[in-house]
Amino acid sequence: MRGLIAALRRLLKACPRCHARYTRAKYFVLSLARLRYGATDLRQVWRHMYWQREPQMAAGPLQAKLLFYYHKIEKGLCMPGPRRLFGLEVLPQVMRLLEAWEQGGHERDDPIYLGALSSLSAYRARLLEHGLDREQRILPQIDAFLRTRPAAASAPSTPVVTLAAPPAVSYAQLLALSEARRSYRDFAPTPVPEQLLQQAVQLAQLSPSACNRQPCRLYAISDAQRKQQLLSHQNGNLGFGHLAPVVLVITADMRYFFDASERHQPYIDGGLFSMSLLYALQVQGLVSCCLNWCVTPATDHAAHQLLGLPDAERIVMLMVAGYPPPASLVPRSHRKRLSHVLVAR
Ligand SMILES: Cc1cc2nc3c(=O)[nH]c(=O)nc-3n(C[C@H](O)[C@H](O)[C@H](O)COP(=O)(O)O)c2cc1C
Repeated sequence: MRGLIAALRRLLKACPRCHARYTRAKYFVLSLARLRYGATDLRQVWRHMYWQREPQMAAGPLQAKLLFYYHKIEKGLCMPGPRRLFGLEVLPQVMRLLEAWEQGGHERDDPIYLGALSSLSAYRARLLEHGLDREQRILPQIDAFLRTRPAAASAPSTPVVTLAAPPAVSYAQLLALSEARRSYRDFAPTPVPEQLLQQAVQLAQLSPSACNRQPCRLYAISDAQRKQQLLSHQNGNLGFGHLAPVVLVITADMRYFFDASERHQPYIDGGLFSMSLLYALQVQGLVSCCLNWCVTPATDHAAHQLLGLPDAERIVMLMVAGYPPPASLVPRSHRKRLSHVLVAR
């Protein structure tokens, strides 16, 4: 068998056309075989992208469901145009989910719980102010609900008024920041202070997410052995990954999404979160490099085991971060012409 393979190799070397055909065929077969990864994606969507009945839901997904519904109220309160009665189906859902949160024994000072309560208060105030529920279709229910929940009165109110004002950061400043952000593949050995990471995540948390469900989480790995184990599962860090004092893992939880129509959303929200994170690291004097998570299901599973992640938490990407060395080389990374990117239709 070995002899046959060696003979084939010799033949391919001797005949460039045969070699090119062989390479194309190999690529085709491999690409075809990799379509099976889609089966894993399908299984994960089937397993995790389905909202259970509330008592069976963990705190995170329950919070996402609550956000999904109460965000409709918050949003509705901000719509321009004549004031109208809206959200008659959503309101009972929000109250039911708030009860489920309480019955689940979750924290009553949680900002999302309080946010949902404050959206109910604001909705009630709107109904009263504009006399929108003269038929008493929803008002008595809201009144009864809020009467037993005094926390609603002290919760930070929603919506908030914003006044048109010049932006805090100019285009020129943001351009300078964007131009200065580069993917670094060299790091000083200085550890990254915990506080800087916390501040970076706080900023990244301000990124938009679908219905404000905030599915992202960041795992920071500084332990040398664990870092090395994790990086061994990733194919794009050879030659520099080991220099980074910290490896960040950005994940998004599939359970925060209600069905397969949202299947791309974890990655979209994860991308937005990651971009903010890059800038947040940068403005604190740190440098970073995103690392793709283009892996086989088996590798993905191994990383989940290593980090103790639930299957529903999808790894969006890894990121290496640290302080820059005094001088280092970065690729110029040319950008395409604007006309190839901005298209008027
Ligand atoms: C999702 C994602 C995955 C990436 N994966 C890798 C990687 O595995 N290895 C690497 O060296 N760079 C990686 N990069 C960095 C890109 O190569 C880099 O962003 C691009 O070349 C533009 O350069 P710049 O970031 O310096 O502007 C990745 C970037 C993104 C956004």
